[in-house]
Amino acid sequence: MIAATAIIAVSDQPENIEESTVSNNSIVEVVKPSVWQAPDESLMPATEKELILYGKELIKNTSFYLGPKGTVASMSNGMNCQNCHLDAGAKAWGNNYSAVASTYPKFRERSGAEEDIPKRVNDCFERSLNGKALPVDGKEMQAIVSYINFLGTNVQKGDKPEGSGITEVAFLDRAADPEKGKLVYQNKCVSCHMADGAGMANADKTGYTYPPLWGKHSYNDGAGLYRLSRFAGYVKSNMPLGVNYENPQLTDEEAWDVAAYVNSQERPKKDIKKDWPNIAGKPIDHPFGPYHDGFSEDEHKYGPFKPIKAKREELKKEKSKKLKA
Ligand code: HEC
Ligand code: HEC
Repeated sequence: MIAATAIIAVSDQPENIEESTVSNNSIVEVVKPSVWQAPDESLMPATEKELILYGKELIKNTSFYLGPKGTVASMSNGMNCQNCHLDAGAKAWGNNYSAVASTYPKFRERSGAEEDIPKRVNDCFERSLNGKALPVDGKEMQAIVSYINFLGTNVQKGDKPEGSGITEVAFLDRAADPEKGKLVYQNKCVSCHMADGAGMANADKTGYTYPPLWGKHSYNDGAGLYRLSRFAGYVKSNMPLGVNYENPQLTDEEAWDVAAYVNSQERPKKDIKKDWPNIAGKPIDHPFGPYHDGFSEDEHKYGPFKPIKAKREELKKEKSKKLKA
């Protein structure tokens, strides 16, 4: 019999340690907070099942329905939502949708407004898929929203499960280097995404077998992946194809450098003049000024990010002092 068992919950953030009582002669079990898994299809309400499954299909094969030769409409660049939200938005640290139903509607600094799920979905249509917004009252948007809500079935309002979203890769002490990234690309990415970054179309040209990473059919410069931290975090836990957060292949340096290389290539431009109305709310790695912290666009694009982060913390402190005075 086990007399006493200490259970230690571990996570990346030490402040998340919930319990760590260790007594003499105890067996220490290390229990990681359980990583989110998509709910089983059997939990789909019968009345909504068809709509939810259509939503899933639209996430997986977006281009077939809504791409350049789409059967429903022609309004996006040929990519699929799933290209960046892996396993139809169900993969741990694969940019999944586990925390969408639980955290939206929410205020977002990029738009300076409260966004609901359809608005957020359309952000990706207009940026990541360099296309047009989907009508919010149409069947396709309803289906996508139903599916995303279904994925959040077991998540409490306000919660972000372990494994949601994208891996945060530690900042380097130097700027990310496109030259070094080019070598990473040639060694580990070129076989699928091709030397010109254009990927490879599928046989009937309705979408991609290997999606493009730059060029006119790729995401535009207003998209999330255009920020180096998002790209580095996505590839660290998901690329080359087949890896996951438990067996990454790229070092942190390789992830940042390949992000720098890919995001220094040509891609479609988006008019983002209205983004980030509060410039103090811009992410550290948003590559377009103006900024309130005195660093240049180049520094915000490639880093090093530690000095920018330090400066921003200083500015925040000064501001709260002034407010108190
Ligand atoms: C080129 C890559 C890419 C494609 C394609 C893409 N997205 Fe995204 N999406 C992102 C990134 C990056 C984020 C932001 C993740 C972050 O900041 O942690 C995001 C965020 C989201 C979010 C918010 C997630 C959250 O937890 O707040 C939703 C919802 C979403 N995307 C839906 C879609 C839908 C629907 C499609 C297809 C129409 C799509 N995306 C296509 C890259 C992409
Ligand atoms: C074995 C083929 C393969 C290799 C090698 C590979 N990828 Fe991918 N990559 C894919 C496929 C396939 C997808 C889309 C996955 C899906 O739709 O399920 C993808 C998606 C992506 C995406 C998001 C979609 C887009 O087009 O913007 C990025 C970013 C990406 N890969 C970067 C990389 C990087 C960087 C490397 C090298 C470190 C790499 N990949 C290596 C096959 C590959």
